[in-house]
Amino acid sequence: MKKLIAPSILSADFTCLREEIKRVEEAGADLIHVDVMDGHFVPNITMGPVVVEAVRNVTSLPVDVHLMVEEPIRYIEDFAAAGADWISVHIEGEKHLERILSRIRSLGKRGGVVYNPATPLDGIEYIMHALDFVLIMTVNPGFGGQELIPSTLEKVKLLKENYRVRERGILIEVDGGVKVENISFVAAYGVDVFVSGTGIFKTKDYKKTIERMRSEIEKSIKN
Ligand code: DX5
Ligand code: ZN
Repeated sequence: MKKLIAPSILSADFTCLREEIKRVEEAGADLIHVDVMDGHFVPNITMGPVVVEAVRNVTSLPVDVHLMVEEPIRYIEDFAAAGADWISVHIEGEKHLERILSRIRSLGKRGGVVYNPATPLDGIEYIMHALDFVLIMTVNPGFGGQELIPSTLEKVKLLKENYRVRERGILIEVDGGVKVENISFVAAYGVDVFVSGTGIFKTKDYKKTIERMRSEIEKSIKN
């Protein structure tokens, strides 16, 4: 399967979001990653359905909405209606995860579960039937521009080896601190979807950056 690159607009220039999205689209991005933060689940506040709708209106790429909010069940319909294609929710503190994932699917969207760096995968086998992808946080959520925590990648290995997610058609996404300089190291673990915020938007030439990312990924897969 083609490896997917998902620029996170958290690090885009919001004074010209339309152009920023066009630029990454023309540069070869596969998904647009939108970080939703509520100031409770994480110590930062970012954007909501209004922004997702605006993004939806300027791109034909799938929109990947990463919910870092308390009680995500309250917002699933809103984000689906705003045009999200992929919706992921954190497992931490969530009592009825299976219900949320089923709700996402029932709205015709792809559902994912997210694991913070310190959260183990225990119990994931019981929600596999409701999952389209798993998002492994490679930084503590809340901010762009942080350093990748290598130990989190062990979970990618476990997902492939112990939980056999590939055989079940479940994709593995990583988020946080991914850039040209380390993407081959990350890809070697068997990641399918690479989120990158500052690693793309804080570079000059998005096309060159994404091309370099792809060739680094290729290199690591061949090795
Ligand atoms: C962090 C967000 C990430 C963030 C990634 O909480 O979930 O998507 O935008 O940014 P970088 O790639 O700069 O670490
Ligand atoms: Zn994210």
